[in-house]
Parts: sequence; C-alpha cells; structure tokens
Amino acid sequence: MNLAFVAQVVLVLLVCEQRVDSSYKRGFGMYYNYYECGDTYALNNTYWWYNWHYNFTKDVTYHCPRRTRGEYLPMIANEADTLDAEIPPESKYVLGFNEPNEADHMSPEWCAELWPRVEKIAGGRILVSPALAACDIYPDMCIDWYERFFKACPGCRVDKIAVHGYHCVPYELLQSLGKISSHFNRPIWLTEFACHGNVSSQDQINFMNIALPLLEQASFVERYAWFSQRNKQATTFMPNFSSNLLNLKSPTLTSVGLFYNDYK
Ligand SMILES: *[C@@H]1O[C@H](CO)[C@@H](O)[C@H](O)[C@H]1NC(C)=O
Ligand SMILES: *[C@@H]1O[C@H](CO)[C@@H](O)[C@H](O)[C@H]1NC(C)=O
Ligand SMILES: *[C@@H]1O[C@H](CO)[C@@H](O)[C@H](O)[C@H]1NC(C)=O
Ligand SMILES: *[C@@H]1O[C@H](CO)[C@@H](O)[C@H](O)[C@H]1NC(C)=O
Repeated sequence: MNLAFVAQVVLVLLVCEQRVDSSYKRGFGMYYNYYECGDTYALNNTYWWYNWHYNFTKDVTYHCPRRTRGEYLPMIANEADTLDAEIPPESKYVLGFNEPNEADHMSPEWCAELWPRVEKIAGGRILVSPALAACDIYPDMCIDWYERFFKACPGCRVDKIAVHGYHCVPYELLQSLGKISSHFNRPIWLTEFACHGNVSSQDQINFMNIALPLLEQASFVERYAWFSQRNKQATTFMPNFSSNLLNLKSPTLTSVGLFYNDYK
C-alpha cells in the first residue's frame, strides 16, 4: 500500500468520524420560567432541547400533560446540582456547569474539584464541558479558562466543549468556535446563541440565514441551541424579545421561530 493511499484512508476515516447528521445538530434552550404547554411540539423540526436543569418535568407545569417531543438533554448547572442531581435513565449525554465564568462565580479550579461528582452522576454518559459565556468575542479567555480547568484535573473526562456566544457576525462566531475546537481537539457544542442588542426580528432572521448554514457545514460544530424558545425578561444585553422562537403567550412560532424550525 502506498503512503498517499494510507493517508487518504486515514483522512476519510477522520472526516467520517467527525461528520454528524445535520438534523441532529439543531436545538434550543427552553427557558424554564416561561414554559407553555406544547412548546416542544411547536418546534417540531428541531432535534433537541435543554432547560439548564436535569429534570424536564420541572418545567412542565401542573396543568400541562407531561409530554414533550425531541431529545431532552439534562444539565448539572451548578454546585448544588452535584449534590442531588438524577439523570433521566434514557439520556445519552450530560451537560456541565452553566456559565461558571459569568462574574467569575465558579473558578476553573473549583469546577475541576467538583467535576468528579459530575462524572459520577453522569455514569458512563457522554460528558459536555462547563459552558462558558462570551467565547464568541473572547475565544482566548475561554481557552485560558479551559486550560486552567484541565491543568487542575488532568484526569477529568470531558468529551465535548460547550460555549455560548451572542455575536451578530456569523463568520467571526464560527472563527472563534473553530479556534477553541482545534485548541482542545474536541467538537464544539454552542449551547446558547442569538444576535444580541436592540435588534429586530428581521435582523435575527438575517443573522440565522448566514449562521445556520455555517454551523451545519462546520465539522467541528456538533450541536447548537438557540436562546431561547421564549424570553420575557428584558436586559440591556437583549433589550427586547426579538430572538424569541415562540410567541409570548402561546406555543406558536414567531417569524424567527418559523425560520429556525424550517431551516433545512
Ligand atoms: C410541524 O408542524 C406543522 C404544523 O402543524 C406541520 O405543517 C409540519 O409538517 C410539521 N413538521 C414536521 C417535521 O413534523
Ligand atoms: C422532577 O420534578 C418533578 C416535579 O417537580 C418531581 O415530581 C420529580 O420527582 C423530579 N424528578 C427528579 C429525578 O428529581
Ligand atoms: C431600541 O430601539 C428602538 C427604536 O430603534 C428605540 O425606540 C428603543 O428605545 C431602543 N431600546 C433600547 C433599550 O435601547
Ligand atoms: C426590538 O428593537 C428593534 C430595533 O429597534 C425594533 O425594530 C423591534 O421592533 C423591537 N422588537 C420588539 C419586540 O420590541
């Protein structure tokens, strides 16, 4: 066998291993305070969702039938969850801490110290790293954070790297994701994204129109989740609800939701 042929086979194997069916990538964050019965059914062409918690029934209010569609992914969001979380038996994945770098509320070293508990709760399931905020604009800050985390626990098991980013320029977002992925040689899960700021629904759709094909095509992006199905809390970062996939009071798609759900 000549070497060029071997190299080609290896390349094909690598590419195949990294490739994911695009339909598996798309998901959304289910904002837990604002669940309406039927939300998951309205987004019937998305594959997965999560709610920053490990218990999906937590959000399914008592008047709702406890039925949802799509793959639900549990999260061990914070230190308290490491004490008592129970993972639904059918889950294949477990998501790690939510934005520990936000206001530095959990240091990488502290997350590393807690990680063995996360591993124990997760059992043999695929483990997704703590999800860091602002990796779109500060990829190097995120790389430093994960470096410190891995240095503090070289034996810790992390199968995927999760990041958040609200960049409105899709190419720059993708560039940051690629940089982080190649640094740690792990696939990226973009578990929160949207275009931030005082922008319109049309701006969100224009953003998705460029960002979704890039995310689908990028072999280093395994999953992505829009923020969020419904938000009712205005912040200076997101002053209005233009990124909402679903209408405020009913489980029906907004124009943004229609675009996200229908994207092929
Ligand atoms: C999703 O629901 C809409 C409205 O009921 C329907 O027209 C569409 O075919 C469904 N799509 C899928 C993928 O099930
Ligand atoms: C999930 O939440 C529901 C409703 O609050 C509760 O009845 C159930 O025991 C919880 N399950 C776990 C595993 O915590
Ligand atoms: C958002 O923009 C609109 C019009 O462009 C303006 O009326 C509104 O005050 C802005 N809101 C914030 C929070 O900046
Ligand atoms: C959000 O702000 C944009 C830009 O000012 C505006 O066009 C849009 O109507 C606002 N949306 C909502 C839901 O307030």
